[in-house]
Amino acid sequence: MTESSDKETLPNILSIGAAVPEGVVTNEELEKTLDTSDEWITSRTGIKRRHVLKEEEKPSSLGVEASREAIDKSPVDPEEIDLVVVATNVSDMPIPGSSPFIVKELGLSRDIPFFDLKAGCSGFLYAVDVAANMIGGKGYAEILVIGLEALSRVVNWDDRSTCVLFGDGAGAAVISKRGNRGRILSTSIYGDPSKANLIKVEGGGTRLPPAKGSEEDERYYIRMEGKGVFKSAVNMMKRSSLHVLEDAGLDLSDVDWIVPHQANIRIIKQLASSLGVGMDRVVVNVDEYANTSTATIPIAFKEGIEEGSIESGDVVLLTAFGAGAAYGATLLEW
Ligand code: ACO
Repeated sequence: MTESSDKETLPNILSIGAAVPEGVVTNEELEKTLDTSDEWITSRTGIKRRHVLKEEEKPSSLGVEASREAIDKSPVDPEEIDLVVVATNVSDMPIPGSSPFIVKELGLSRDIPFFDLKAGCSGFLYAVDVAANMIGGKGYAEILVIGLEALSRVVNWDDRSTCVLFGDGAGAAVISKRGNRGRILSTSIYGDPSKANLIKVEGGGTRLPPAKGSEEDERYYIRMEGKGVFKSAVNMMKRSSLHVLEDAGLDLSDVDWIVPHQANIRIIKQLASSLGVGMDRVVVNVDEYANTSTATIPIAFKEGIEEGSIESGDVVLLTAFGAGAAYGATLLEW
């Protein structure tokens, strides 16, 4: 567990950008190829549509688009960015990941460091925590944090229990001590390795390297224990939310908006109910985008701002849970 509690040194989330593919797959379209129904998907998950990359589209281009928006909306010039962290579970390439391609396409300085960070659907909040601490400790000044996911490339589109749940997308944020917006009040990240097997893609790593004929092997696609994920997601998002509130010396009545990881409306409702918070203070867009993993929080955060829900000065609680049972929360004042 890490916890940033030196409030003097915590930086700001200056801006948010997001991008999703134009292509959309609706529940009705899935009904044509799978033994499923709009009714089943909507009632179990709240999902109606998901945005999905076309075969010829590059996932990293979504990260580039989201990053450009975040940089444009911040007072930071692209050449001032001195570190790029890309949270993603399935990179553009196993080697060298996605970050070098994004940095290259953005035309950032060739000498800045960049890396991919893998922490399930909590990756974006892990990256925010890492960035916040690196600005405090290592002397970086302007960090670009990206959540990028193209899970449509690793779901089995014949498996109704998983493919209906996911979509593609990216979100980005510029983190810096500059400015007076988006002050991070507390950020914490955690993990429970005893639950490491809840959500996984077994094949394609070093234990089970990519193989011929893998398209017939379910281990090369995303699989999960749905009920176990449900329970752990609620418990762990609640726990991390309470930790950051305590760390910041605030309580739930101080929180104007919760932006939770968007995996499933029932998980979100149960989280809100277990925290005693009404759904009128929770940003939800899982109906439109499904679960975009590391990208759900920045996409939903940006929508909450653009719709006029999240306003300047609001206290916003971000919380996520994902594969590896990695989880976390960030509290900030927008
Ligand atoms: N359409 C129709 N039937 C389906 C579908 C589908 N798309 N998917 C599964 N079913 C069937 C199952 O095959 C099963 O049939 P059976 O009883 O004949 O075997 C039946 O529905 C019930 O399946 P369950 O798994 O018991 O359904 P459950 O009520 O648990 O709902 C769900 C499944 C929606 C996945 C639920 O467990 C859940 O929300 N879990 C959380 C998982 C999640 O959101 N993961 C996202 C990734 S992880 C993350 O981001 C945190």
